[in-house]
Amino acid sequence: MLRTIHQAGNFRNKAVILRCDFNVPLSDGRVSDDGRIRAALPTIEFLTNAGAKLVIISHLGRPDGSPAPKYSLKPVAERLSELLGKPVRFVSEAIGPIASKAVSDLQGGELALLENLRFDPREASKNPNERNVYASELALLGDIYVGDGFGVVHREQASVFELAKLLPSYAGLLIESELKVLEDLTISPTRPYTVVLGGSKVSDKLGVIQHLLPKVDRLLIGGGMLFSFLAAKGLKIGKSLLEEDQLTSIQGFLSEADRLGVSLVLPEDVVVASKFAPDADFEVVGADAIESTRFGSEGIGLDIGPRGAELFSSIIKDSKTVFWNGPMGVFEFDHFAQGTRSVAQAMTEVDGISVVGGGDSAAAVRKLGFSENAFTHISTGGGASLEFLEGKLLPGLEVLND
Ligand code: 3PG
Repeated sequence: MLRTIHQAGNFRNKAVILRCDFNVPLSDGRVSDDGRIRAALPTIEFLTNAGAKLVIISHLGRPDGSPAPKYSLKPVAERLSELLGKPVRFVSEAIGPIASKAVSDLQGGELALLENLRFDPREASKNPNERNVYASELALLGDIYVGDGFGVVHREQASVFELAKLLPSYAGLLIESELKVLEDLTISPTRPYTVVLGGSKVSDKLGVIQHLLPKVDRLLIGGGMLFSFLAAKGLKIGKSLLEEDQLTSIQGFLSEADRLGVSLVLPEDVVVASKFAPDADFEVVGADAIESTRFGSEGIGLDIGPRGAELFSSIIKDSKTVFWNGPMGVFEFDHFAQGTRSVAQAMTEVDGISVVGGGDSAAAVRKLGFSENAFTHISTGGGASLEFLEGKLLPGLEVLND
């Protein structure tokens, strides 16, 4: 059973360390997608309203264990302060005298955000002893630990795992709400149950495909990984993305889907471009004719085609439960965003549960201008939600369970 902040008792004037996942995209020194920050607000408000002295910690990017200004959390503190409508103290270190002083200066109901935890190599060290020492130094800053960084619960890292063992620890409201939706998907999804997978790498999705095949009714494949599926069927794919070492696994999935009676659906057409660029020339062709365009064997598939998008949309709309992870094409380039847009639109029309797995698909939904309320749930965890659906034990959740 997950220990949650509802069971924690009194927070008044307690120093509460709150682990969030504020790993958000930045551009020109500002937060360009604040979805993860907004998702953390209910817990932050719950704790500050309860009179906690709130010390928020997070990572941002992969700075390789040393300070790098481009990965500073300062812009996050600014955005958080705007969203809360109150000051957020930004502390330029996560441990040491500056951090200790900042925390001891906090009054009940006030909050501070400490600098990127991954500026210290011990946070993400492979060595548990090193992580434990770092966690012990962080633990000095608080009386209670609240884990609410759902996006990072699949990482066995000092602030996610070891720190939670050193203090009385509880899950925050974001983790609670993410789990409620994802558990519904895994326990008894209302059928038809459709999973839509995209994104660039098949290798990232192997586990989830394997685990989900026996559970779903339909599995739709788009995005960069589609082209490895086409290659596994013996089709020519020009210069499209190919993970050659995954072809045997894909062939295994195709025959397993047949055996289980699951419809594993690939789009019948694709958008093939002359180059990987927003201004590339492009043609729509059948998925079995990628090298027939004027770009010949140099063509690169960058999106699913309109007929494929239409088929995907009708399957999605005819489902009662849909989980989607991974864009259908290079949605960052306008000409290759249509497949992703169609899937997102269809998700908003599902008469049932529609869940968008985090990462790129969540960013795509927001970038393409869809209202978040049009979906049942947009997860803040990309890798985390996939690993949850794979049935893996996630360290950052295990440690908050009795
Ligand atoms: C994510 O964005 O998936 C999480 O913040 C984890 O980041 P990581 O993949 O760098 O560990």
